[in-house]
Amino acid sequence: MADRTILVTRAWPKEAEERLVAERLGTVTLRHPDTPMSRDEWMAAAQSYDVIMPTVSDKIPAEFYPAAKGKLRVMANYGVGFNHIDIDAARDNGIAVTNTPDVLTDCTADLAMGLLLCAARRIGEGERETRAGQWAGWRPTHMIGKKVSGATIGIIGFGRIGQAMARRAHGGFGMRVVFQDAWDVPDEIKAANGQAEQLGSITEVAAEADFLSLHCPGGADTYKLINAEVFNALKPGAILVNSARGDVVDEDALFDALDSGRVAAAGLDVYHNEPALDPRFLTYGNIVLAPHLGSATDGTRAAMGHRAIDNLKAFLAGETPGDLVT
Ligand code: DGY
Repeated sequence: MADRTILVTRAWPKEAEERLVAERLGTVTLRHPDTPMSRDEWMAAAQSYDVIMPTVSDKIPAEFYPAAKGKLRVMANYGVGFNHIDIDAARDNGIAVTNTPDVLTDCTADLAMGLLLCAARRIGEGERETRAGQWAGWRPTHMIGKKVSGATIGIIGFGRIGQAMARRAHGGFGMRVVFQDAWDVPDEIKAANGQAEQLGSITEVAAEADFLSLHCPGGADTYKLINAEVFNALKPGAILVNSARGDVVDEDALFDALDSGRVAAAGLDVYHNEPALDPRFLTYGNIVLAPHLGSATDGTRAAMGHRAIDNLKAFLAGETPGDLVT
């Protein structure tokens, strides 16, 4: 076995942990029980490991990167999003970074569609009413929601997951798909993904959208991208779906938009400061609150581990990993 140290920061599905150990790439530390690493643990890890395999829930202190210089060679991230890693600092300190795209695309889009349906058709509210024994029976005016079939969905970010959402919305529900993305999407990709129409700006998409679904990466470039200006541009009574990153939404502006009725409901999987939600979220019955479940299916979470291991193996073999970020 190579004389190398590898840290997995959170518990993975057993199958993926077992493979990582069996690959004999180095001495593997699997942190159990599954708790977030403290700042002190991060700083202690900086000169202890050649490889760290982090996740989205890791809070990595800024001082970690210079402290890890010369020892840590690669952060093989378990997850597609890498906004929890300071990519510039990693690069500046000679640390490579990889991620795990593709394997979670379908599950994340499935979850986003589920949130859209729950928010539109008031399934969370209805479930709570029924469970509380407060259902007074079927009546024509009871718990009227928003029609999904044939409505227009606005998609922000037309990468893999945004495209998968477009296919579901158009193919499954006959929705018109409009989207915004910085790249000029070729016609064949638009045609193959929900006959989607690319519009010039987020506010133009908002103005057309009955549902606004976010699929852009997190990080500095998209911080509070969905702000008061975007909410004000929405059709009154639109519904927001966020399965991307919490920081993409200005949460104060979202609460204002819910209060004014500009936004009728929201389906959310991600938040600022997860898992410490702003307590205001709990006061709105028309928000569906999921605990960052986008990729949470049995096969997907194992596949993310396998993909992270594949990247690590390639890196350690001196090859360019398939999912090299930097
Ligand atoms: C990701 O991969 O970025 C998700 O948010 C966690 O699965």
